Amino acid sequence: MEVIIRDTREKAVSLTASLIARALVKKPNLVLGLATGRTMESVYQLLVAMYEDDGLDFSLARTFNLDEYVGLPPEDPNSYRFYMNRHLFHRVNIDLRNTHLPDGMAEDIEAECRNYEEKIVDCNGIDLQLLGIGRTGHIGFNEPLSAMRSRTRPKALSPETVAQNAPLFTGETPMPRRAITMGVGTILECRRCILLATGKEKAEVIAKAVEGPVTAMISATALQLHPNCTVIVDAEAGSLLQNQDYYRWIFENEPDWQQYH
Ligand code: GLP
Repeated sequence: MEVIIRDTREKAVSLTASLIARALVKKPNLVLGLATGRTMESVYQLLVAMYEDDGLDFSLARTFNLDEYVGLPPEDPNSYRFYMNRHLFHRVNIDLRNTHLPDGMAEDIEAECRNYEEKIVDCNGIDLQLLGIGRTGHIGFNEPLSAMRSRTRPKALSPETVAQNAPLFTGETPMPRRAITMGVGTILECRRCILLATGKEKAEVIAKAVEGPVTAMISATALQLHPNCTVIVDAEAGSLLQNQDYYRWIFENEPDWQQYH
């Protein structure tokens, strides 16, 4: 695991967007794993700006989102499909047929989950998975007790996650209590992952995820097992990490990071 602490939220977001853009330029048909939530909105804003200003090309990219609420159709403004269309897909030159989210309206949820895994395999796996972190330490919607080897499946949302995400719901739609999420095992198979967290409300969970023991109670700790995982935080989200000086020292001295100083 690499941990990068940037002084400001803007710098943390911009590093994340640059790493995605660089991967896309290097491999135009990149298989990109995507995440939702407030934190990612600014990442998508920057990617849209790179498309508009610098011609960042999404035409061959393929995407797989981590999760979707059960029972919300794509046209519901609270669904993650709607979020992705609004923040990214409708604003860049991606082919919508190459964008994938689990279908929260599927009649047979189990079959939908198997089908989602198969689609990832058909694309030869995910090259780069973008991740946020929930207050329970979830990645995707892998709530406490998610098995390290879990696959895409329906998952009951914890009361803490409901409290965290319910304020984002608009209109009449009550927040669903279940979601389909890629499993921890599914996420661990991606070739590279980048977790972005900003703000002091993430400080405690980031300290546990990065420096705490690996536990199914905090699914983000599973990333310690991933051979190519970068955690990017701003100073606030990184404020409770014990080894901040060490992480900063690596960032200053590692040749790969020189261009981002
Ligand atoms: C939701 C998503 C997670 C995401 C989290 C973070 O719960 N399912 O994948 O990491 O939101 O949200 P925010 O960025 O709003 O803190």
